Amino acid sequence: MADQLIIFDTTLRDGEQSPGISLDVGEKLEIAEQLARLRVDYIEAGFPVASDGDFEAVEAIARTVEGPTIAGLSRTHRGDVDRCWSALRDAHRARIHVFISTSPSHMEHMLRMTPEQVLAETRAGVSRAREHTDDVEFSPQDATRTPLDFMIEVLQAAVEAGATTLNIPDTVGYGIPWDFGSIIAYVRQTVKGDYVISTHCHNDLGLAVANSLSGIKAGARQVEVCVNGLGERAGNAALEEIVMALKIRPDQFDGLDTGVHTEELARTSRLVSRLTGYPVQYNKAVVGRNAFAHESGIHQHGVLAERTTYEIIDASKVGQKGSQIVLGKHSGRHAFAAELEKMGLSLQGDALNSAFARFKELADRKVELTDADLEAIVAEELGTSVEQAYSFEELEVHGGTVAEPRARIVITRGGEKKEATAEGDGMIDAACKAIKAATGVEATLTDFNVSSVTGGVDALGDVIVQLDAAGVKVSGRGVSTDVVEASARAYLNAVNKVLRVRARGEQRKPEIGP
Ligand code: KIV
Ligand code: ZN
Repeated sequence: MADQLIIFDTTLRDGEQSPGISLDVGEKLEIAEQLARLRVDYIEAGFPVASDGDFEAVEAIARTVEGPTIAGLSRTHRGDVDRCWSALRDAHRARIHVFISTSPSHMEHMLRMTPEQVLAETRAGVSRAREHTDDVEFSPQDATRTPLDFMIEVLQAAVEAGATTLNIPDTVGYGIPWDFGSIIAYVRQTVKGDYVISTHCHNDLGLAVANSLSGIKAGARQVEVCVNGLGERAGNAALEEIVMALKIRPDQFDGLDTGVHTEELARTSRLVSRLTGYPVQYNKAVVGRNAFAHESGIHQHGVLAERTTYEIIDASKVGQKGSQIVLGKHSGRHAFAAELEKMGLSLQGDALNSAFARFKELADRKVELTDADLEAIVAEELGTSVEQAYSFEELEVHGGTVAEPRARIVITRGGEKKEATAEGDGMIDAACKAIKAATGVEATLTDFNVSSVTGGVDALGDVIVQLDAAGVKVSGRGVSTDVVEASARAYLNAVNKVLRVRARGEQRKPEIGP
């Protein structure tokens, strides 16, 4: 039994299937680079046949990201497998992940195939993938609702056709830990051959991590996970929780460990949150901002006397150092760049100038800026280093309980100024309507989330919005000491993304999603 658990990260594939997430190639590359720093073993970079954008992202990651093996998802069709391979071919090491549904419900309603056809497809897809690479994973989709005998037959066929990893997806999050564990044990005992067994658990019952751990206990040596537990519907098993469960309780897993550099967990979580626009819940295990906060006097007393009285994880071991004061308004560009560098954010030229200008502007309004503030500024100001269509210049708002709230916005595009005013239900609504009028981009605000980056009355307000512009769903982020301004910045950031998506003219092909 191997003593190392393989971490197969699918944030960029299954995670990106979370409603409202739409990452462009630059953003995916940034996340993939960070996953490499985190030292995951596999990065599932996308589903190349799903869209040209997915293909480009997988290809770019395969060409540039070093360290982890790069995987791409593929249906069993020969054309899909070949397209997947064209995206992966330049990787140092590449894996094709072939899947097909095996549950009666999926076979009847989605595939319209008989069990015999599914078996034949499995053999054909896996053997085609083996012609390209000797690292082939096979997944019987909706495994936990598939009759065991049929699943074993399909898995055996996959191994005979050349699959080297057998992944058991709990596609709809139907599994219960002990039951899921027995499925893994049964597969191990029954399917003959040389393969690694893997788990892929969804969180519909809030059991994705528990099910994955039960699978590991029963012999799985690969887990499929997403940073922050992102993924379809309620998400996938959270990478950081599984990794830390093994670290903190080696007694329960025969000392099995991962190669993950846990000190990078918090930074990875923040990066994924800011690029996807999915906030991390405050009380999220391991990476939530309250994961190491102690409120009650008794706990505070205990922790001050001895940290381990109320903490099982050392915050610094997961990269959670707490907020540190790093820079103020007297700091220069050099110190600013050096600090960003320390945080793993490397900026040059115009990107650095623009982030520095924004930092100075905020430092003037807020006495001290923390690491978290800096990350938020860089995230909001630069996004993915992709040129923003509109730039925010000025905002003036009037509100209160007497007069109708009004906003005046000034933005620029290619040096040309655009100004608009609007009234709204509140100052934020008025500011968003003014942006709508100035840009001409019609969109519905589907979600709005405001939080403070750090504590205190002068904290930066961090706003994340989600927009739906005629089916194009994007998120945007803005920070400022003023929440109305942060909201306007977030809204404009999202509008810019809508324009980028439209310019790419690229839409996912929904009918072929896994
Ligand atoms: O949930 C699922 O079944 C999947 C497969 C494609 C592995 O994501
Ligand atoms: Zn999945």
